[in-house]
Amino acid sequence: MKRIVLGGLVAAFFLAVFTVGTSMAGGALFWKNWPEGTAKGVMPPCGTNVLALGGDDILQATVETYCAIKPGQYVSFINPKAMDTYKKKGKKYPDGMTGVLQFADIGVAFTTEIKGGNPIYDVISMKDGKSIASKEANHPLNPKTCEKCHASFKGVCKGFVCGNRM
Ligand code: HEC
Repeated sequence: MKRIVLGGLVAAFFLAVFTVGTSMAGGALFWKNWPEGTAKGVMPPCGTNVLALGGDDILQATVETYCAIKPGQYVSFINPKAMDTYKKKGKKYPDGMTGVLQFADIGVAFTTEIKGGNPIYDVISMKDGKSIASKEANHPLNPKTCEKCHASFKGVCKGFVCGNRM
């Protein structure tokens, strides 16, 4: 009898851990089934001249902003609802989440959302989906830093989206 109770407890414990684990990850990774965008690669070490490797000015600036964080591999995901605009390199994305830049090695994702035509940038933890954006001025994870590049870097990014610029 004792053994059965114990076994049941152990099973319940594992079931609980499993349920919590999967629901958190499943809830946070809302982009899991979205198609991949063009932006994809690995963030090179600080000091790398990506222009010499076929990169452009904005990519060089991005490397200089984020190399110190050592974010590793990145993959972009585009909301299927935004895919038409993405393919056309349109300037006006529909309201809602537009795209995600996932840095799986460090468990962080950058998000761009459109609300009433205006962009909202955020940095979230892939573990629980909570924002880890910074409020410190000029911090690489401050949404104002995202804005400076996505909205105004020589007009390279269309509709606040950069990965489809080529
Ligand atoms: C200095 C420029 C720069 C800054 C700062 C920057 N980005 Fe980007 N972002 C880019 C570039 C360039 C790409 C495409 C990368 C590529 O082509 O490999 C990109 C891609 C993305 C994507 C994938 C969708 C797309 O636009 O292609 C998201 C989402 C994104 N960035 C969000 C953010 C957020 C959120 C921040 C701030 C925490 C941020 N970015 C800061 C330049 C920047």
